[in-house]
Amino acid sequence: MESPVIEHRIHNFSSGPSILPQEVLERAARDLVIHPELGHSVMELSHRTPFWEAAMERAEADLRELLGVPDDYAVLFLQGGATLQFAMVPLNLMPEGGVADLINTGRWSQKALAEAKKLGRDLRVAATSEPTGFDRIPTQLDLAADSAYVHYVSNNTIHGTEFTAPPDVGDALLVCDASSNILSRPMDVARHGLIFAGAQKNLGPAGLTLVIARRELLDRATWSLPTMLHYKPLAKAGSMLNTPPVWAIYITGLVLDWLKRQGGAEAMERRNAEKAAILYGAIDDAPLFEGCTAPDSRSRMNVTFRLTRDELTSAFLAEAASHDLKYLKGHRSVGGCRAALYNAMPVESVQRLADFIRDFSDRHA
Ligand SMILES: Cc1ncc(COP(=O)(O)O)c(C=O)c1O
Repeated sequence: MESPVIEHRIHNFSSGPSILPQEVLERAARDLVIHPELGHSVMELSHRTPFWEAAMERAEADLRELLGVPDDYAVLFLQGGATLQFAMVPLNLMPEGGVADLINTGRWSQKALAEAKKLGRDLRVAATSEPTGFDRIPTQLDLAADSAYVHYVSNNTIHGTEFTAPPDVGDALLVCDASSNILSRPMDVARHGLIFAGAQKNLGPAGLTLVIARRELLDRATWSLPTMLHYKPLAKAGSMLNTPPVWAIYITGLVLDWLKRQGGAEAMERRNAEKAAILYGAIDDAPLFEGCTAPDSRSRMNVTFRLTRDELTSAFLAEAASHDLKYLKGHRSVGGCRAALYNAMPVESVQRLADFIRDFSDRHA
């Protein structure tokens, strides 16, 4: 059988699941077959073993170090995706008969809103950018006086907008869906009550959901919850109430180690700013292209753009793919084009895309 490591890698702009660091993939490929310390696959091992407990502890310690997570916050490695958090957050943090607020910045906020409503929870829209097609981050908030928390999405994967800092909500508890920009820049964890993220963009493969929550909030639920939906018992069991998603956690551990060696969130912020400047620079310069979002709300992670002559979009995507610039089609709900520039995306790949955009524009001007 041939080696699973293939030399030729395309430029992968997928918004998720997405690019992972090459060296992480190579190490994971080796350990999937035989981990040198174990003499068998890392997947052929009980999670109730010293090897696995050490791997979980190391992943948690690295994450705490990289994000500066204070001691009075729990770190949970869960399943169910960020989507399950749309239910777990209101179930755990909203008192019966209470209200909470949400900043509606697009599809992932709308899904959180729909889920809370389905559960009969009073989640209100404190601000929305829907009237302008979610092309910006709204700034005026109208918060309920007795709000249990304010839910916001720090990076809007589909629309291509991003908060540059957490919204100012005064004393209210902040809940952040950081699925698509976690660890792409430093984050003030202490300003939040709870942060959650699906792993499959900046953290690792699909199958793992990270939750970081202030410990005093874990037992806030005022009604009986199924054990697997209740933060408190999950935290008490060290995220091992049942078999954890071992493969996803293992690879995430490798990614966190890689991130530390790259210089952490600060280094990622610099590199991500550089990549975004290269790509937005090309989009702004090339007459055939335009960005989809307000300049002060532009995402550094998911760059959305379109062609001023829409009839050329398919040709652009096909020609880009033939140059190994792949997965640039915009989300089916918004159309156009989108390039994800997550942490593992090399600057050279972004430069390649920027050059191609300029060239395509020149040829069709
Ligand atoms: C910002 C955001 N929130 C939530 C989700 C849903 O994540 P999951 O598929 O892990 O449920 C996504 C998925 O892309 C996302 O980008």
